Amino acid sequence: MNLPIKILGTGHYVPNQVVTNHDLEKIVDTSDEWIVSRTGIKERRKVNHETTHEMAYLASKKALEEAKIDASDIDIIIVATITENQKTPAVANFVAGLLGIEHDVMSFDLNAACTGFVYALEVAASLIQHPKYRKALVIGAETLSNVLDYTDRNTCILFGDGAGAVVLEKGQEQQLGYFYNTSRPDMTNTLDVGKYIKMDGRKVFLFAVEVIEKSILKVLNDANLSLDDIDHIIPHQANERIILAVSKSMNVSMDKFVMNIASYGNTSAASIPLTLSEYKKKHSETKTLLFVGFGGGFTYGAAIVKV
Ligand code: COA
Repeated sequence: MNLPIKILGTGHYVPNQVVTNHDLEKIVDTSDEWIVSRTGIKERRKVNHETTHEMAYLASKKALEEAKIDASDIDIIIVATITENQKTPAVANFVAGLLGIEHDVMSFDLNAACTGFVYALEVAASLIQHPKYRKALVIGAETLSNVLDYTDRNTCILFGDGAGAVVLEKGQEQQLGYFYNTSRPDMTNTLDVGKYIKMDGRKVFLFAVEVIEKSILKVLNDANLSLDDIDHIIPHQANERIILAVSKSMNVSMDKFVMNIASYGNTSAASIPLTLSEYKKKHSETKTLLFVGFGGGFTYGAAIVKV
């Protein structure tokens, strides 16, 4: 079923503190060569003082500016995150407060790990079909450095901090909004975040390659489109080698995938909106894009939209 949406603006925020692979060489037994060859990551960002909600707010402010929309027009705020600084108020409540919203606004957080943004976009797209909602803000924001064990070289090299946001409204019927979001519950602690992120990297890698391909094909089929109709695919940025494996197995050129993992590492729910926002600064014309996410849970999903 099509849930047509129009994305009116995108924005992102990353902390200015850069942590390079060489910085990590001083903390754990690793090397720039190992990290780049195994993951494609060269550096990532780390918060100085920013909270998840401050980054979410700053990304949203930019998205609203780009959309030329006033915060008073926003009726829904959804923040996809696994790194809220406190249980309640939700990050989305803080964002509403920081934007100075005083009218009725539905604001809540959503946890679907690294697939969170794709999930949140479908939730917003579904709600916004109702005439009582005018516009929605969907945000992915993470301070993963707060849950990294800097003595565990298996994980601390992979993740970074950042936020991305989109403003959307209901689209005309010919506009696109196709979504496929699902999960395959995993109770064996393959990827979990308690005090720290813990992960069986190899198992996650194999899962990711399998479900990215499955999600892309499913959402294309539902939309009755082929990959030739898609300008670019924005995948969750977890590991360049995962995307290389997908590109090979699906026989799709790497040029089709938008990648920025070298600069930011894996920013979980923030990675797709952050990549999208950077992409839109380079491509102002409307593009047909496919987002694909996967992560803890296991969750996974894909979306096709025009942006
Ligand atoms: N630096 C140097 N060596 C490291 C290292 C690091 N940062 N991390 C692990 N190693 C070592 C391991 O200890 C292991 O050594 P051993 O053979 O002596 O035991 C060796 O490198 C190979 O480890 P392995 O886990 O098999 O490496 P890999 O090729 O599978 O790459 C990941 C590891 C984590 C990069 C890869 O599995 C991965 O990216 N998985 C997906 C993770 C992910 O995307 N998670 C988030 C999903 S949303």
